[in-house]
Amino acid sequence: MSNESWQKTLFVALVLCLVFSVLVSGAAVVLRPIQEANVRLDVQRNLLLAAGLAEAGAPVAKVNELMGSVEAQIINLDSGEEMTGVDPESFNAVTAARKPDTSRALDSQEDIARIKRRADMAKVYLLKKDGQFNGVVLPVYGSGLYSTLYGFIALDSDLRTIRGLKFYEQGETAGLGAEVDNPRWLAKWPGKLALDETGQPLVDVIKGGVNPASPLIDYQVDAISGATMTSRGVSALLKYWLGPDGFGPYLARLKAQQMEAS
Ligand SMILES: Cc1cc2nc3c(=O)[nH]c(=O)nc-3n(C[C@H](O)[C@H](O)[C@H](O)COP(=O)(O)O)c2cc1C
Repeated sequence: MSNESWQKTLFVALVLCLVFSVLVSGAAVVLRPIQEANVRLDVQRNLLLAAGLAEAGAPVAKVNELMGSVEAQIINLDSGEEMTGVDPESFNAVTAARKPDTSRALDSQEDIARIKRRADMAKVYLLKKDGQFNGVVLPVYGSGLYSTLYGFIALDSDLRTIRGLKFYEQGETAGLGAEVDNPRWLAKWPGKLALDETGQPLVDVIKGGVNPASPLIDYQVDAISGATMTSRGVSALLKYWLGPDGFGPYLARLKAQQMEAS
């Protein structure tokens, strides 16, 4: 066949398409387990960052070592009880929140985090130090301005004081809402109180900055300037997940257990 013929051009183009589509789909299949492992590692690293246990960019070996002091548990959100029959490794919170048989729709009054549905169960992480309970890390998510923000909030062993907050996935505007991931803003959270003595979540972000004379100063963090909507989303998602429709029942049970044990 001559090089000038349209049949040869078409044939070569088709063969190239075929070869490269096999290569691309083969690479996608081969790389999927590696990508999944990297996503899992990133989530664990962020969990440890929220707990104040790891540095940003901690190596895999360090993350694995530190995860040894973290005990994952699956809990029923309504009762706050641990679900001993469910393997934390195989539990997928995102899938659970989508399926109608493992989640429920939220009405607009309830849905302050703007997540539409809430899974019946959740995965929580107990922190241990020298074998003793040392705090808890809770997964939180909700809408910002343009995206859903996924992260962790870590509470100290008093179950009121924030140990840290960290987001591992969000799609807000770089330089504005995406500043939720800025270590300087996140550094404002440790030491703040999330809940009052009765378990009511009072944590809040304040547009224009916290007033030093505010009686609620211990619960308040400056909003990100130029990103009030995203900041309000953070405040709303924390209030939702720490409240009675989120981890409230679990935190109450955990507190009672700790008081019994001490
Ligand atoms: C291109 C563009 C991107 C924006 N991205 C965000 C954002 O990610 N988060 C946010 O809260 N506001 C964002 N804003 C600003 C909001 O539209 C709104 O003005 C702002 O939340 C008000 O906050 P401020 O009172 O702190 O300025 C963006 C505005 C523009 C024009």
